[in-house]
Amino acid sequence: METSDPLDELLTCRLNLGRKKVEPCSVVIFGASGDLTARKLVPALYHLHTSKQLPSPMRIIGFARREKTNEDWREELRAGVETFSRAKRVDPKLWAEFAGNLFYCQGDFSDENAYTRLSKQLAAFGDEALRRNLLFYLATAPAQFAEVAGHLSRTRLLRRDEEGPGWQRLVVEKPFGTDLASARQLNTELTRFAHEKQIYRIDHYLGKETVQNILMFRFSNAIFERLWGRDSVDHVQITVSEKLGVGSRGGYYEQAGALRDMVQNHLLQVMALVAMEPPVSLEAEAIRDEKVKLLTAVRIYDPSQVPQAVVRGQYTDGEIDGQPRVAYRQEPKVAPGSNVETYVAAKFLVDNWRWSGVPFYLRTGKSLPLSASEVRVQFRPTPNVLFAAQCGPKLDANAITLRLQPDEGITLRFNGKVPGTTIQIRPVRMHFGYDSEFGAYTPEAYERLLLDAIEGDATLFIRRDEVEAAWSIVDPIRQAWADQPLAHADSYPAGMWGPKGADDLLAARNHTWRNPQPAN
Ligand SMILES: NC(=O)c1ccc[n+]([C@@H]2O[C@H](COP(=O)([O-])OP(=O)(O)OC[C@H]3O[C@@H](n4cnc5c(N)ncnc54)[C@H](OP(=O)(O)O)[C@@H]3O)[C@@H](O)[C@H]2O)c1
Repeated sequence: METSDPLDELLTCRLNLGRKKVEPCSVVIFGASGDLTARKLVPALYHLHTSKQLPSPMRIIGFARREKTNEDWREELRAGVETFSRAKRVDPKLWAEFAGNLFYCQGDFSDENAYTRLSKQLAAFGDEALRRNLLFYLATAPAQFAEVAGHLSRTRLLRRDEEGPGWQRLVVEKPFGTDLASARQLNTELTRFAHEKQIYRIDHYLGKETVQNILMFRFSNAIFERLWGRDSVDHVQITVSEKLGVGSRGGYYEQAGALRDMVQNHLLQVMALVAMEPPVSLEAEAIRDEKVKLLTAVRIYDPSQVPQAVVRGQYTDGEIDGQPRVAYRQEPKVAPGSNVETYVAAKFLVDNWRWSGVPFYLRTGKSLPLSASEVRVQFRPTPNVLFAAQCGPKLDANAITLRLQPDEGITLRFNGKVPGTTIQIRPVRMHFGYDSEFGAYTPEAYERLLLDAIEGDATLFIRRDEVEAAWSIVDPIRQAWADQPLAHADSYPAGMWGPKGADDLLAARNHTWRNPQPAN
């Protein structure tokens, strides 16, 4: 007799059963008194501790220039967890356990003696694994990566040979270079001291649940994947909009701009996940191979073609949510005549079999009306018979929107008959929301990424050839802008969805931007 279990329909495929075992290790954070450590790294490590996902034993050493005691650093970090962590509160018992494993090492990155002190501190932990299994997190400026790695190598804390007891890994933060040449140079410098397999280039976007879900959504659902290509897809829009202006980050932003800060990494990474071919397995290298293949298929513009394909903008003063906002050029540490772009909209083409002729529109900007990240896959319209003949452009083409943040979810848009005796059609939505389906469990991206780095799983980190492929796409755009000051038409008032040129870019192919909407 056949028995049917009512739960059968909701069975979960637990790929995570295959998670590697975490081994005891020490994490050394360079730049331990900085913003990133207080706002992201330590809150993430604390949450991993509270959910018992960290190895035991484990030690965390903070390395920075300022004099302070272990106690000072612990207090500073506790305040950081209370202010910035997703829980915003600290359980005194769990914090005491966690804080007992935090140690501070004072020193300058250039001082050889400081690394000897670090080495002694590690040796004092006693346990062999705590001395041999080392995760070095470089929360420092990229110009300091090679200096730190060089010293670690000379003090034998970082060993490039892969054999031998223990493991050592380097996690490096963005920005990874400022162009292809500097990224290559950085790669060459780092790989003198560490094998590529030991280098974990972080792009925190890849740690987001919704970004990871792009692959699950595409490759575990037959109904969508069959439509995923030039036969059915008209175009794709990827939007990462920010309501905030540059605020106190003007000094950094003047060197970066939206193209380097967002397009080269986050937006191209999301595009790679949306457009790549299925990998042959879920191994890190198989997934990263497909991302690289996709990025190398993106058409590289000659600088003379850039004006027809890429639009930049800079915000002027305006208003958001009824509050006045200053122009970018009036922000602290921004040059009054700055030509740095705070907005980019680009049309990219992918020259491969699946996507030939399908435009991918990517845009990002600051001081926009809403903070949201989403991917909209716009399908081709129905043939111009039956309803389309009468409804014309009012008959919406189908679309799938992957909302990456906030209000994470997926929406399918299709047409339905309005109830009644006449034939009226209007777009309706089917919606899946992460919160309503799974509850409000949204771990910070850094939690997942730190755990993966400790486990040695590089899937969500960027490989050398990926970084270089992304810079190859972005460099000619930068070159095209180099000697061209921003024009008046490139400006947009804070609180608007970018300069007019961004609309014209899509209008050239009868497309229009679909702006992210606030949650209902
Ligand atoms: N903050 C973020 O959210 C964020 C996000 C993505 C990427 N990043 C990147 O991550 C890196 C760190 O950012 P951050 O915001 O944390 O920077 P930050 O607040 O300026 O902190 C820099 C840290 O580096 C230390 N440091 C600098 N020079 C040193 C030296 N010569 N010797 C020893 N320690 C030195 C500082 O120590 P002292 O204070 O003791 O001098 C401080 O702990 C940057 O490359 C940034 O672009 C940051």
